[in-house]
Amino acid sequence: MKLFIDTADVSQIKEAWSWGIVDGVTTNPSHVLKTGREPLGLYKEICELVDGPISLETVSLTAAEIVKEGRSLAKIHPNVVIKVPLVREGIKAVKTLSAEGFRTNVTVTYSPVQALLAAKVGATYISPFVGRLDAVGHVGMDVVRQIRAIYTNYGFKTQVLTAAVRHPIHVLEAALAGSDVCTMNFEVLAQLYHHPLTDLTLDTFLKDWAKVPKA
Ligand code: E4P
Repeated sequence: MKLFIDTADVSQIKEAWSWGIVDGVTTNPSHVLKTGREPLGLYKEICELVDGPISLETVSLTAAEIVKEGRSLAKIHPNVVIKVPLVREGIKAVKTLSAEGFRTNVTVTYSPVQALLAAKVGATYISPFVGRLDAVGHVGMDVVRQIRAIYTNYGFKTQVLTAAVRHPIHVLEAALAGSDVCTMNFEVLAQLYHHPLTDLTLDTFLKDWAKVPKA
């Protein structure tokens, strides 16, 4: 399973990329707002840092405008994936963008039938928001499992990108569900390394090693 970092914070992206386990980046308008920066310069900087798919989100509301905005985002760098919301106009736009050879990430997805629509128009990625579903009393990961089953049933090539991840258990469940990608913030990514037994065992080994007679 590929791991993407879900942020527009350049220092976090730089640090996480240096770890060698990050495959790509997902951004959204809220992430951009948090940086306090203007989008174009920010996007260019992210594209210089990471050699992998970088999702940049459109904010237009008609298919024609989404297509225009998407084409312009894609000009920033060959690694750009055009992120489009799962609304009717967005799906129409993805059909056009797919036909033109652009990669797309269909976002703000909450149901498996929405995901079916995205696959039918050739989306590269589908992003179900599991944490936001959990927060309203649904089992977000069920949507990932159902999307996986539908895509496998019909041989759709659209990759499942589990998003709005809140903790390492979401990452585990996404991997067990056969999600192609899981995107998460810097804190969750850092948590993936940790296990208290690893720290304890390593501590014992290092203490023992210090007592080993040296030549
Ligand atoms: C994914 O591409 C989105 O940017 C993200 O996962 C949204 O998550 P949030 O619920 O943490 O805002």
